[in-house]
Amino acid sequence: MKKSVALLTIILIIITAVCGCAGEPAEPKEWYEEVSYEDISLKEIYSDYFMLGTIYTKNITVGADRELVLKHFDTITPENLMKPENMQPTEGSFNYGEADEMIAFANENGLNVIGHTLAWHQQSGDWLGQNVGREEAIEQLRAHIYGVAAKYDGEIYSWDVVNEAIADGASMGNNKTWQDCLRETQWLTSIGPDYIALAFQFAHEAAPNAKLYYNDYNLNETSKAKIAHAMVSELRAAGVPIDGIGMQGHYDIKLKTATVEKSLELFSSIEGIEIAVTELDIGMTGGGLDSEAVFKFMQSEQARLYAELFQIYKAHSDKIVRVTFWGYRDDASWRKEYLPLLFTSELEPKTSFYAVAYPERWLEEEVN
Ligand code: G3I
Repeated sequence: MKKSVALLTIILIIITAVCGCAGEPAEPKEWYEEVSYEDISLKEIYSDYFMLGTIYTKNITVGADRELVLKHFDTITPENLMKPENMQPTEGSFNYGEADEMIAFANENGLNVIGHTLAWHQQSGDWLGQNVGREEAIEQLRAHIYGVAAKYDGEIYSWDVVNEAIADGASMGNNKTWQDCLRETQWLTSIGPDYIALAFQFAHEAAPNAKLYYNDYNLNETSKAKIAHAMVSELRAAGVPIDGIGMQGHYDIKLKTATVEKSLELFSSIEGIEIAVTELDIGMTGGGLDSEAVFKFMQSEQARLYAELFQIYKAHSDKIVRVTFWGYRDDASWRKEYLPLLFTSELEPKTSFYAVAYPERWLEEEVN
């Protein structure tokens, strides 16, 4: 009996040694993992090109999220808290508490703050600019912008003054002007197309130290880009204080990155205008993410697109002052089902993180 136990023990030792069961052989590291993640800081990698941003919510002020955000980003945009419904929920009653906390956090940590947003059709109180005549609406627009932008002048790098003013599917064909292509918003209805110029004028008076932006999505689509180009060129030529165009960048994996570059070129042709990528994320859309093969394919497509975009952004960094991701962790994204960002819910870097860190090498070694 004793002999057989001893024999069994010897056999087990031999099997363990041969199979290496004592520890699985380590997976060979990918080239992009050769530099330890701890030593990579995206904001340092891009410091010669543009600022790098993410969204601010209270969650980024503590723990591992805080550490991650401060390691990789130098700019924050409040995801929701500076929107009109939060800053002035009822007429004349401003709510500065959360914005003050954000500004204090930014100042303590050397972050630039982007103001988002002053005139928008969403997340604005149902009284603001609604059911009022033109003069009263103009006064409400002025009072809102003064109440928010003046309070933080000198603390905010730039404001998204007017957000998403162009109608979905609009085009300047058939002699239409950009004014004909505006979205039916409360401001358009109450004031007319000159609400845009008025908003910039009020923002300039209230916050003379801030850069003032027009911000919109799908600006890589030719027809929408043409409308934005016409609008911003005309306003600027007329002396309206507009400094920049914000290309939001809510993309999906069908994106053709050449369309982004084309719009960057178009907007760069406007004298004196700077460009920011303001809300970047690339959704893994199309379904099937529960299949491993589909997931892997989508993941590599997402990484390729991020790499292509950052290569393009670098090539246009004379005009691009900032690239802001609309978040950092997939599970907190407004499109979380499409896993559009650079980090997992455990705050692990995804392959897309490495594609952003090393775009040229990524395209050379992982794509070509
Ligand atoms: O605050 C309420 C809360 O009281 C309630 O319990 C909860 C229940 O759903 O909703 C909360 O409001 C949500 C709000 O975010 C704050 O979390 C809204 O439902 C939700 O619709 C809202 O979504 C925001 C969205 O703008 C609204 O349009 C997203 O977080 C925000 O990421 C998104 O950001 C926009 C940019 O500002 C402009 N460009 C497009 C971009 C994506 O939509």
